[in-house]
Amino acid sequence: TAESLDAIFDRLIRDIPDFPQPGVMFKDITPLLADHDGFTAVVQALAAAGRDESGAVCVDKVIGMEARGFILAAPVALALGVGFVPVRKPGKLPSATYAVSYSLEYGEATLEMHTDALVPGERVLLIDDVLATGGTAAATASLVAQGGGVVHALAVLMELSFLHGRGALGETPLLSLRTL
Ligand code: PRP
Repeated sequence: TAESLDAIFDRLIRDIPDFPQPGVMFKDITPLLADHDGFTAVVQALAAAGRDESGAVCVDKVIGMEARGFILAAPVALALGVGFVPVRKPGKLPSATYAVSYSLEYGEATLEMHTDALVPGERVLLIDDVLATGGTAAATASLVAQGGGVVHALAVLMELSFLHGRGALGETPLLSLRTL
């Protein structure tokens, strides 16, 4: 029988204390990525967010947020048979972009997406490793709106519920494979 997602998380995601700064417990997914069975299971579970009740694919694009979101979103896009779109940190995308800035605890962050990345009306599945404050997800949803797309859902490996990221998502449905 296949290993449960909970068992996969327990076995393959490790806690690294005080990274990247003191007081932060970092969730390191590199052991999960290195394990074919574990990686396959989480990609399939995330891809379920891009299917309707009958199992039919109901999204036109999958967006990954730099950097760890890329690693998960690209195989999800292939699993669903749709294209992949990167949302990147500033200055990385070569063509014309939309940009959205948002505030962090200290300072500001900006994310960008190519203006021609979406066809107006396309439905988009957002994929990331972690939902923390929700700033990244909300900024990405705003980029999708600027691009004329519709956010179908956000799917993440882990939701840090104590940071209340769900509150930043508005009506966007959230699939979280594990709540911490
Ligand atoms: C992390 C994580 C999410 C985001 C979640 O990315 O991969 O994208 O933070 O936080 P939020 O919900 O508070 O916005 P990070 O900025 O560390 O980028 P990286 O993947 O390039 O390291």
